[in-house]
Amino acid sequence: MTIRETPAAPTTEVVLEAAGLTKHFPVRRKLRSLFKPVRFVHAVDDVNLTLRRGRVTALVGESGSGKSTVARLLAQLYPRTGGEIKLHGQPTRVRGGRAFRAYARRVQMIFQDPFASLNPVHTVRYHLTRALRIHQRAGRTPADLETALCDLLTRVQLTPPERYLDKFPHELSGGQRQRVAIARALGADPTALLADEPVSMLDVSIRLGVLNLLRNLKERLNLAILYITHDIASARYFADDTMVMYAGRMVEGGDSETVTQRPAHPYTQLLIDSAPDPDQIQGGTGSVPRDAGGGEPPSLIDPPGGCRFHPRCPAVMPRCSTDLPPRLEIGDAPGHWAACWLYDPAGAAPSGTPAAREIGS
Ligand SMILES: Nc1ncnc2c1ncn2[C@@H]1O[C@H](COP(=O)(O)OP(=O)(O)OP(=O)(O)O)[C@@H](O)[C@H]1O
Ligand SMILES: [Mg+2]
Repeated sequence: MTIRETPAAPTTEVVLEAAGLTKHFPVRRKLRSLFKPVRFVHAVDDVNLTLRRGRVTALVGESGSGKSTVARLLAQLYPRTGGEIKLHGQPTRVRGGRAFRAYARRVQMIFQDPFASLNPVHTVRYHLTRALRIHQRAGRTPADLETALCDLLTRVQLTPPERYLDKFPHELSGGQRQRVAIARALGADPTALLADEPVSMLDVSIRLGVLNLLRNLKERLNLAILYITHDIASARYFADDTMVMYAGRMVEGGDSETVTQRPAHPYTQLLIDSAPDPDQIQGGTGSVPRDAGGGEPPSLIDPPGGCRFHPRCPAVMPRCSTDLPPRLEIGDAPGHWAACWLYDPAGAAPSGTPAAREIGS
């Protein structure tokens, strides 16, 4: 049995679409405050996101901005508080069992820490065989299974596969472990990969190799990839589209070149100013400092009204603290938008700010 090699040219078919995605976590209460009202962490609010075949979409933001929660909601690992997720155009809400397995066959997640995501007492062969069996792709004979296992390892460039099949996770380097985790995800034959900071725990010298592998898989398998990162410089290098998240809300989106070269939202501008040189992604630490742009992110239990960035914003206006800005089209490139009143065509935008119009969010 061979693993699917998609011959078709990349298309822009929508694989996964989230609209109004919201997640509020209840705050655990101490015994003495049991009679007080339950409070919630507003981790993700009203997020819209589209993943397309053959495209990498980066989700960038500071620590605690809600990136992993978005990925877990998209993977249906968390029940959502609100919103809708469509897979290949079909609304979905799965709660485990057979429906979850069917969903996971299409949507797979790759986690930050490959050591934690592989069981230390089992070999590479065990992890990959299990994935192939769960998703009914192990074939009928032992020879079929062996071919499928070798195919998976070859696909993630662990060659010759026989050298890796019977190794335990501790016998592999960090980069090799992450490649095994990617191979395991490919065992399901997914159409979407959700990669939550897939290289941030790896040695700087091997990050580029793993990102190049993901890009190669995107092209060969025509996958839709969500690439979560702190590192806006790597988003420019690796992702086709970039979305920027701040305190649980999306604040800017567009093609990566435009968002990173002509950032519109003051938060994105601060992120870029505090990020390492995009041309040096192999050398730098590649991560955005927690206090990028000065100040601290707000509490998500009681987030600021209006635009959540307004307490830190260098361009704050009176309405920013009361009115939530919609997505406003910037107009300098197709699909480039920012949720910022600076781009309100009806408002008094400062001179030099491109005219914008509101778009369906
Ligand atoms: N299971 C949970 N219960 C309660 N609060 C949670 C839970 N998971 C996340 N949160 C809170 O939701 C917010 C967003 O967390 P999330 O992990 O999604 O952020 P992140 O952008 O992935 O951060 P990082 O870059 O550090 O990984 C944080 O305030 C976090 O404390
Ligand atoms: Mg995270």
